[in-house]
Amino acid sequence: MSEATVQLPPPAAKAFDVRKVRADFPILAQWIRERPVAFLDSAASAQKPRAVLDAERECYEEYYANVHRGVHHLSVRSTQAMEAARETAREFLGAPRVEEVIFVRGTTEGVNLVAATWGRTHVGEGDEVLITELEHHSNIVPWQMLCEDKGAVLRVAPIDDRGVVDMSAFADLVTERTKIVAVAHISNSLGTLNPVREMADLAHAVGAVVFVDGAQAAPHTPLDVEALGCDFYTFSGHKAFGPSGVGILWGKTALLEAMPPYQTGGEMILTVRFDKTEFNVIPHKFEAGTPSIAGAIGLGAALRYLMDLDRAGWAAHEAELLAETTRRLEARNDIRIIGTAPQKSALVSFVMDGVHAHDVGTILDEEGVAVRTGHHCAQPVMEHFGVAASVRASFALYNDMSDVDALMRGLDKVTEVFG
Ligand code: ALA
Repeated sequence: MSEATVQLPPPAAKAFDVRKVRADFPILAQWIRERPVAFLDSAASAQKPRAVLDAERECYEEYYANVHRGVHHLSVRSTQAMEAARETAREFLGAPRVEEVIFVRGTTEGVNLVAATWGRTHVGEGDEVLITELEHHSNIVPWQMLCEDKGAVLRVAPIDDRGVVDMSAFADLVTERTKIVAVAHISNSLGTLNPVREMADLAHAVGAVVFVDGAQAAPHTPLDVEALGCDFYTFSGHKAFGPSGVGILWGKTALLEAMPPYQTGGEMILTVRFDKTEFNVIPHKFEAGTPSIAGAIGLGAALRYLMDLDRAGWAAHEAELLAETTRRLEARNDIRIIGTAPQKSALVSFVMDGVHAHDVGTILDEEGVAVRTGHHCAQPVMEHFGVAASVRASFALYNDMSDVDALMRGLDKVTEVFG
């Protein structure tokens, strides 16, 4: 074969290019206090790519109407677009059936829905609900209230001083009394990646079901609910680069079908008479009222955007940001990192000697760096580490080393001010 006819492999169509990704997020082009914004608060809520903004605008400009209720053209188009978004979410989750995908308001509603329906019908006096010490408040309080109402017991698997769940203690806490195990896939305050499959296998061995809070995992990790071995999985749209006010709850068909409805009203019924109401089939049984139509469509666009990226390149990019930030924080003698799990997502929580986290956050803001400060809705984690609050720098696929540099410059400024 002559040189001229040699076929070079096509350039990797999906190779991860952070400059290109950044350009997809219009908000990141802005400057704050005369500096380019270094947005390191994506664990609280992520920015939105143009694909999401366009999908929502297109819905409102071209085909918006209520869904599942109209025979007219616009309603049919809206319904089709929303159902296409449901199918995209199914694909994103690796779920077997689209009917198992329920649109909720977000992770918080996903947890409350399962606690209020499956929980109320399956958890009784003396039963146990098992969570871990690293949970977000929204994966603690609904289970705590359920246990209080039912005379059940909330068990908590401890973490060690790296922020890793003690799996031997966890295994001991899974007993014949355990009815449900509710765990975060990734901790929002520490970044710890939980061994969900191992936890699920232990839970299933005693007949318990497994609920996973995927709020922090969906924006970072490819999902496969079947491989994870869970029974329920929930995440929020707004942290996964989609709109706020919409999220996903996935559950296994047999469980969802046997559960009573969560909220009642329009759409979740088949027939209503004054003596009896017949409920709709899943997923509609759990979607009372007019849903976040453009929100669901925008979420579909966000998940499609993520699935079209080079996942391995993206993961390597985030791992590099985490490693570099950790290395540079560790090189300082005034920082203590909170959460050093070996399997960790791209976020770093830390405290600075002699400076309150809120003061660190305020000075960083003056330098154009956005971080979250406080207890991160995970007070038990803060208590474990003996701090009232921490600074959390959380990365997403659009961050680059210039953001790490900006964080470090900002911390130098804090030292200068509080010296
Ligand atoms: N749960 C969100 C966070 O971790 C708000 O910041």
